Amino acid sequence: MSKSAEGLDALRAMAGAARARAYAPYSNYQVGAALRTASGRYYSGCNVENSAYPEGTCAEAGAIAQMVLAGDRTIAEVVVVGPPGRPCTPCGGCRQKIREFAGPHTPVHVCNPYELLLTTTIGELLPVAFGPEHVGLSADDG
Ligand code: THU
Repeated sequence: MSKSAEGLDALRAMAGAARARAYAPYSNYQVGAALRTASGRYYSGCNVENSAYPEGTCAEAGAIAQMVLAGDRTIAEVVVVGPPGRPCTPCGGCRQKIREFAGPHTPVHVCNPYELLLTTTIGELLPVAFGPEHVGLSADDG
């Protein structure tokens, strides 16, 4: 198996495990996300809902927080695992959050617990994006 396919399997396993920890008693819609960084490390997160509904956070946001806390800044690949049914494509806010740390060609894979449903890029998900470069940041800043 190619190295990238091995990485995708590892990301899917991590995102699936994160999804099993989701706290989603209000929507009953569990999501897990996993990231591989340019440094070759992996981070994951799950959605965490709240009785004050707008305070809930998405799986992708949790994974990004773990990445930043660990000192990593460059996302190389993303996997989102949602429930069976319509593919759980990242919400608008998460597209922007991923874009902060990823170039437009960064792959985003959308899965259910059993299969890979679609592969796209953050550039396709968020075309003509507003990003760090608009406000004077280059990839090495921060
Ligand atoms: N959700 C995510 O975790 N990621 C997404 O990209 C889409 C939506 C969560 C938020 C909420 O807890 C539940 O899925 C239903 O919207």
